[in-house]
Amino acid sequence: MTDMMKRIMVSGAAGQIGTELLKVLRKKRGPSNVLAVDIQKLADPSLRDSGPFEFCDVTKPEQIEKIVRKYRIGTIYHMAAILSARGEKNPHQAWDVNINGTYNILETAREHKMVRVFIPSSIAAFGSETPRENTPQETILRPKTMYGVTKVAGELLGDYYVRRFNLDVRGCRFPGIISHETLPGGGTTDYAVAIFYEAVKNKRYVCFLKEDTRLPMMYMPDCLKSVMDLMEADFGRLRHHADFNLAAMSFTPAELAAEIKKHIPEFRCEYKPDFRQAIADSWPMSIDDSAAREEWGWKPDYDLAATTKDMLAALSKRHAEGKLNY
Ligand code: SER
Repeated sequence: MTDMMKRIMVSGAAGQIGTELLKVLRKKRGPSNVLAVDIQKLADPSLRDSGPFEFCDVTKPEQIEKIVRKYRIGTIYHMAAILSARGEKNPHQAWDVNINGTYNILETAREHKMVRVFIPSSIAAFGSETPRENTPQETILRPKTMYGVTKVAGELLGDYYVRRFNLDVRGCRFPGIISHETLPGGGTTDYAVAIFYEAVKNKRYVCFLKEDTRLPMMYMPDCLKSVMDLMEADFGRLRHHADFNLAAMSFTPAELAAEIKKHIPEFRCEYKPDFRQAIADSWPMSIDDSAAREEWGWKPDYDLAATTKDMLAALSKRHAEGKLNY
């Protein structure tokens, strides 16, 4: 069996990015060639029926091993993770899923001599000692959340497996991801998704961050494009591997609310910061992504205005059809 004939596996396939990545990969590589794995069922029936699915807990190496053998997996997109806010509620679980899960995926990939592995990192890899504006590629990594700790470890492990075992591991530091198919699960940037649902449904939103909290964000089509482009990049051109800075846009909750008001003038946003404010305050406001631009031609398509227009159009349509479950 050649490498190209081996199947792809997406872990965390029921999650915010996993769901949409699964769709893109099944379209590109053929539905039967892309295995979805998660600890929960896929919510979207069309995805459930379109290709293979297995329950898999990535903290259990024997489950990964069994599935990788059964489906002859050659490439893994490892999207399963506990995000920042949920991780602060249960740091032990975040450690277990993010550290042990990532290690198990890398070890299985090494043992099976896989073609390539994608492991996302995050802006949570940075901390309050990091320069917050135009955060450089090479900089201080002293995260303040367990999620961030595990993401830095994942980046370092990924680079180690490239150097030590010649395993082709790739990944980027995602900003907050905005999307309308599957809700994010327990992140600090989740407000930038929830605000759209509430704006369409109730014309009102209570934001858990202060109005002037500037964070880097990205719309899902750009996120998917970055994963596909990085995974297809020529290995010889890459000087970085598992830790590419990525940027698309940066805004504050007040700026996002103002952009939404252009479409929904009655929309009102209030601010009641909670424990997530401290997490956001330890993260960058904007990111220097020149390494990704130089090494694999990264360039985003969506800014705040384009994202807002697209999100509101998609959610308003669903709301009109009575299908905006939130
Ligand atoms: N969106 C993530 C979070 O808020 C950041 O990677 O946790």
